[in-house]
Amino acid sequence: MDAIRTKELHKHFSGVAAIDGLSVAFEQGKVTGVVGPNGSGKTTLVNVLSGMLPPTAGVMVIGGEREMKGLRASDTAYHGITRTFQEVRLFEQMTVLDNILVVLTERSVWGSLFERHNAGHMKKVETVLTRVGLWEKRSQLAHNLSYGQRKLLEIARVLAMTHSDHIGQDASIFLFDEPFAGLFPEMIKVIVSVIKELKEAGKTVILIEHNMNLIRELCDHLIVMDSGKLLAEGKPDHVLAKREVIEAYLGE
Ligand SMILES: Nc1ncnc2c1ncn2[C@@H]1O[C@H](COP(=O)(O)OP(=O)(O)OP(=O)(O)O)[C@@H](O)[C@H]1O
Ligand SMILES: [Mg+2]
Repeated sequence: MDAIRTKELHKHFSGVAAIDGLSVAFEQGKVTGVVGPNGSGKTTLVNVLSGMLPPTAGVMVIGGEREMKGLRASDTAYHGITRTFQEVRLFEQMTVLDNILVVLTERSVWGSLFERHNAGHMKKVETVLTRVGLWEKRSQLAHNLSYGQRKLLEIARVLAMTHSDHIGQDASIFLFDEPFAGLFPEMIKVIVSVIKELKEAGKTVILIEHNMNLIRELCDHLIVMDSGKLLAEGKPDHVLAKREVIEAYLGE
């Protein structure tokens, strides 16, 4: 079954077709890679799939549900969709710990701060921060973290949305927009193992990534975009050997 499907999806920005008639499917419980040259529409696709941007035309289908003309950002948690950002977004003036606490309550940033003594929440925060190696940094402001630590904190935030009874529905679809970019090998290892665990837990992962070794290691299926269109798809090894795919990258 498909976790998400798009049909003839378009997203235009004043004349630029960032997504240009894209029909793709992301299979439930699998890791699907999305690759393509800079500007080929990968982030825009994630923005539309996560409800941050309305499509210009076309539809998407989540699970076995009806066709939707886009998704409201407020509905993404309900649909179990969560994402990370290519340009990491954190609550800069809050601690590492509070950055996780806020996602554990659906109400508001303030509500979560007042609920900080909830034992269940604290256990969850400790678990996810330990998982990415940031528990020792819990009292620091997000603003003071290194580039790599910021990316790890974003991963922890996404993990906090699994088995959370406080935010809509347990997250089942994870969209990662270049989570490995610029990271040291030790940090890459952590995120690789997180993605493998998500897959083992039956989650659906959509992974935008430029490193083809990581794509080969992690992905069951690969989608190649070029100028907002589908250039190729299939098994990673097979797709990456295609002449048109190599040319799209060399022509960058
Ligand atoms: N908010 C926006 N306003 C105007 N144009 C945009 C906007 N977002 C993206 N674009 C344009 O849409 C096209 C696709 O951009 P997008 O960021 O989706 O590409 P990408 O594949 O993620 O690239 P990269 O590999 O560099 O991250 C580009 O031409 C970009 O300039
Ligand atoms: Mg991008």
